[in-house]
Amino acid sequence: MEIIVKKNYEEMSKEAARIVKERIEKKPDLVLGLATGSTPLGLYQELARMHQKEGLSFKKVKTFNLDEYYGLSPEHPQSYHYFMNLNFFSKIDINIANTHIPDGLTREPNHFCLEYEEEIEKCGGIDLQILGIGGDGHVGFNEPASSLGSRTRIKTLNEQTIKDNSRFFKNIDEVPKYAITMGVGTIIDAKEIILMASGKNKSLIIAKAIEGPVTSQITASMLQVHPKVITILDEDAASSLKKKDYYKFVAERVKKFNGN
Ligand code: PGA
Repeated sequence: MEIIVKKNYEEMSKEAARIVKERIEKKPDLVLGLATGSTPLGLYQELARMHQKEGLSFKKVKTFNLDEYYGLSPEHPQSYHYFMNLNFFSKIDINIANTHIPDGLTREPNHFCLEYEEEIEKCGGIDLQILGIGGDGHVGFNEPASSLGSRTRIKTLNEQTIKDNSRFFKNIDEVPKYAITMGVGTIIDAKEIILMASGKNKSLIIAKAIEGPVTSQITASMLQVHPKVITILDEDAASSLKKKDYYKFVAERVKKFNGN
């Protein structure tokens, strides 16, 4: 795993955007896995800026979102459909037909989830998956004890996740109790992954996910077995890592090796 520590949220976001841009320039029809939440907002803003000011085009890019609340319509302001349109899709030249987000209103979640997996496969698999990490160590909505081989399915949300996400709703009772999410196995099948985390409140879980054992109790720890993960942290999120100085040393060496 490559671990990059940046000064703050803005620098973390810019570094992630730089990598995404590079990958799209290399492969204009990149299949991009997307995340929601506070963490990737800066990345989306920077990519939108690159589109407007630097001509970065998403015309051929295909996207698959990790998850959606079960029971929320795309028009619900807290749905991930709404989030993606508001914060990203409406600001770039992406063809909406090329974007995929789980259907929170499907009456047949099992069938829908199988089709979602098939659609990813039809597109040739995800080239680059963007991830945040939940306070309980989840990626997507793969809560503690999710199978590390799981595929897209409906999941019950953990109490901590409901509490964490209640900040976006009027009150905690409004937070949906279920979600459709790509599985840990689906995520791990991506060819490359960027994990981002920012802020002190993520530092302990980041340390456990990166330096602790691989465990279904912290599904982000499964990223340790993936051959191509770039973790981009800000100083606060990196503050509990035991080997922070070592990761910084390696990152500098890698930069030099690549001639940057
Ligand atoms: P956050 O959520 O980016 O809002 O912190 C991350 C997550 O729950 O995966």
